[in-house]
Amino acid sequence: MYYSDDVIEEVRSRNDIVDVISGYVRLQKKGASYFGLCPFHNEKSPSFSVSPSKQMYYCFGCGAGGNVFTFLMEYENYTFVEAVQALARRAGITLPEAEISPQQRQEASLRQQLLEINKLAAKYYYYQLIQPQGETARAYLEGRRLSHETIVKFGLGYSNKFSNDLYQYLHSKKYSDQLLRETGLVTMDEKRGAHDKFWNRVMFPIMDVNNRVIGFGGRVLGDGTPKYLNSPETKLFDKSRNLYGLNLARRSRRPNMIICEGYMDVISMHQAGFDNAVASLGTAFTSQQASLLKRYTSEVLLAYDSDGAGVKAALRAIPMLKEAGLKSRVIDMKPYKDPDEFIKNLGSEAFEERISNAKNSFMFEISVIEKNYDMNDPDGKTGFYNEAAQRLLEFSQELERKNYIEAIARTYGIAFDDLNRLVNRLGLKAGYGDENIYQKKNREAAHEKASNREDAAVTAQKLLLTWLSEDVRLFDKLSGVIGPEDFTDKLCHEAAAAVFNEYRQNGTVTPARIMNLFEDKQEHDAVARAFHTNIYDDGDMASREKALNETVRRIKMASLEQRSRSASDLKTLQEIIQQKNSLQKLHISL
Ligand code: UTP
Ligand code: MN
Repeated sequence: MYYSDDVIEEVRSRNDIVDVISGYVRLQKKGASYFGLCPFHNEKSPSFSVSPSKQMYYCFGCGAGGNVFTFLMEYENYTFVEAVQALARRAGITLPEAEISPQQRQEASLRQQLLEINKLAAKYYYYQLIQPQGETARAYLEGRRLSHETIVKFGLGYSNKFSNDLYQYLHSKKYSDQLLRETGLVTMDEKRGAHDKFWNRVMFPIMDVNNRVIGFGGRVLGDGTPKYLNSPETKLFDKSRNLYGLNLARRSRRPNMIICEGYMDVISMHQAGFDNAVASLGTAFTSQQASLLKRYTSEVLLAYDSDGAGVKAALRAIPMLKEAGLKSRVIDMKPYKDPDEFIKNLGSEAFEERISNAKNSFMFEISVIEKNYDMNDPDGKTGFYNEAAQRLLEFSQELERKNYIEAIARTYGIAFDDLNRLVNRLGLKAGYGDENIYQKKNREAAHEKASNREDAAVTAQKLLLTWLSEDVRLFDKLSGVIGPEDFTDKLCHEAAAAVFNEYRQNGTVTPARIMNLFEDKQEHDAVARAFHTNIYDDGDMASREKALNETVRRIKMASLEQRSRSASDLKTLQEIIQQKNSLQKLHISL
């Protein structure tokens, strides 16, 4: 962290969270909180809450939460430092410069300059396109049926036939050769000097989620190789962590995202109204890209090419999406090669229909497997059913597995019972150690029960954290009964330590300030959840009092149980038992 805690707290407290978030999400006041549609997942009714008193947000739908810094980090894809800087600017606070090390400053300003140059280059290419020398490129784009509006929206351009005019232009803007080389737009060569990487190509600027140009793709006008040339990886351009079109698609109102292979596919789809389309950047889909998508959606539609390579790419992507917690379906593009050609030939209505008929990705995988077998041959059929049954074992939840067994039985004309038996037999044989599939299920159920019990204790700790931050009088009422050491959950313990400490020092609790202690995104979600556990609760005094006593008792009980597990001498144990007994008589009145 480059800034001191005081500076960070100053920035945080001068940016009211309701004001900041209102710039992104339409909020409505309901009781003490504000509610709106969550920007981090798709929903129809608002479950995203912003609390002015806690200066925190929390989504009851997807569990995203945090303070004003977290919000910007999530929404704008900023680093923590970038979020601090943006909010300092917003509040008119001048950040102390010296706290950034010279090397950090150099890095930051290098990135800044690379961004500037990329932006200049994009403008330059666009200018070339609309000038007389852009005639052939304009004709090419027209031939591909792109409207002027689309060209502007995607900032398309043209790198003309001169071999170093972009270099000359940027050089005239007083950027050093060293810096220009780092953009990847220019190469230096002892014999020929500096020349441009892109030459006589249609240019596709690649932007990050914040609309900043980080690289380019360039396509030949017509046939020729390579068909596309891309910027190399630079300090700005990390191909595995960005997606083409995401800057636009993130604002789409559609319920999912479409991922495809090509720049032109993305552009065609957007032009046809599918403004939720993105593409990877001339490389295979990565798990970082899956996580990136997860921020904006819960379902991904795969619109890969219909050829063998496209099917392979889809089969690679599906497990990565699943791993990231995304549902996925596969759009059938046949008889056309890619979404661009499909839409050009059959139009957007037909594409919409293909979207609604998109195949569940597991069923897609099975359909690919089926093609390896001769289904007219009994052996081939048996082989296929065995492989399908093997795949069905992936579903450890019984209901889910049954549903898929049923779907496969129906699709491939085999009796449900037969397939079900086959799956179970394979499950027994595969053994999962010495355990058969049912024992495994029992073990999982037991595990679930145990973790539910644990959850109850953790929930109680979260509840109490909420109440403490809402009603500081509780600190005195609970003094001698419960302290931070009784919070057995690691995160709750850290939060509680901070809460008790702040109360002791200032007589107040600022949940949003406590967030500053946590760096990890998952921790922010968890702490925000802890402070929002009972936002819906507003029972009468008697029921609040009852809830408080039960909660305190539950926390104390869990804490004593933990202590008794690690107690080593009899005396301590007796003491713990005594405390447990007196817990029954505990009564705190409000
Ligand atoms: P495709 O060959 O499927 O091209 O490559 P396309 O998108 O259909 O392009 P058009 O319609 O012929 O113009 C898909 C993606 O793979 C990358 C590019 O990102 C392209 O959009 N690619 C392809 C390259 O990086 N280099 C190449 O030479 C070819
Ligand atoms: Mn194409």
